[in-house]
Amino acid sequence: MNKSNIALIIGGTGAIGNALAEELKQNGFLNIVQLSRSSHPNIELTNENTIRDASLFIKNKTTPLCLVFDATGILHSEESNQMPEKTYKNIDINFMKKNFEINTFGPALLMKYFLPLLDSETKSVFASLSAKVGSIEDNKYGGWYSYRASKAALNQFIKTASIELAMKNKKAICVAVHPGTVTSNLSKPFQKTDLKIQSPQESAKNILKVILNLNVQNTGGFYNWDGSTIPW
Ligand SMILES: NC(=O)c1ccc[n+]([C@@H]2O[C@H](COP(=O)([O-])OP(=O)(O)OC[C@H]3O[C@@H](n4cnc5c(N)ncnc54)[C@H](OP(=O)(O)O)[C@@H]3O)[C@@H](O)[C@H]2O)c1
Repeated sequence: MNKSNIALIIGGTGAIGNALAEELKQNGFLNIVQLSRSSHPNIELTNENTIRDASLFIKNKTTPLCLVFDATGILHSEESNQMPEKTYKNIDINFMKKNFEINTFGPALLMKYFLPLLDSETKSVFASLSAKVGSIEDNKYGGWYSYRASKAALNQFIKTASIELAMKNKKAICVAVHPGTVTSNLSKPFQKTDLKIQSPQESAKNILKVILNLNVQNTGGFYNWDGSTIPW
């Protein structure tokens, strides 16, 4: 990975996104760009034009991308005061749409515009924060219908894009990453004391280790914060 190339974080205002930017700095990455809904240019995942314009902003810099780290996502909505569904009786079309718009469709559009910009001279990585609860095989408790389904669909986009990417760029890697349970606005209402809860800094340290250890054989995988593989 060429640390002089651009390391782009999308969702740079989030707990994990922001901590990862700091961790990249500590690890000698020289060209870190953090984009979010409030940056210039901004990225609003529900507006494809902002994603296209942000990709042009990066493309115009003429330095290739060594990393695109998608740290965006939602689990509950403060705007509409909605929490993840405990029962199928709570399934709500608008909440379901919101989960898919932000957790699935947005990241898929990030793939559309940013995968072509990945460096093809040295190792480059597109990593999207998914969630272990998006694993169908690992689903033991049920609940959280929209979040689980939107992350499972995100995982399918990651896998599918990795297959095409492998044909177009031999040095590029595309993966889904589970950050662990991490203190943030997203997880605050659900943190249980019996779970191993990481600070965003701990999680970012672990995630960067995973990213740095990836090789092209790992493309299309779903990785836990400790580097182990999570079943789809
Ligand atoms: N925390 C955990 O325990 C945990 C566990 C498993 C998976 N994850 C995954 O990790 C990722 C990051 O979570 P986090 O804990 O760091 O949460 P967070 O602090 O709430 O950060 C979420 C980020 O997503 C951005 N975002 C939300 N809606 C957006 C939209 N419409 N357009 C563009 N950006 C948008 C937010 O931007 P604004 O600042 O503009 O709102 C923020 O930067 C998520 O995908 C989450 O599912 C987290």
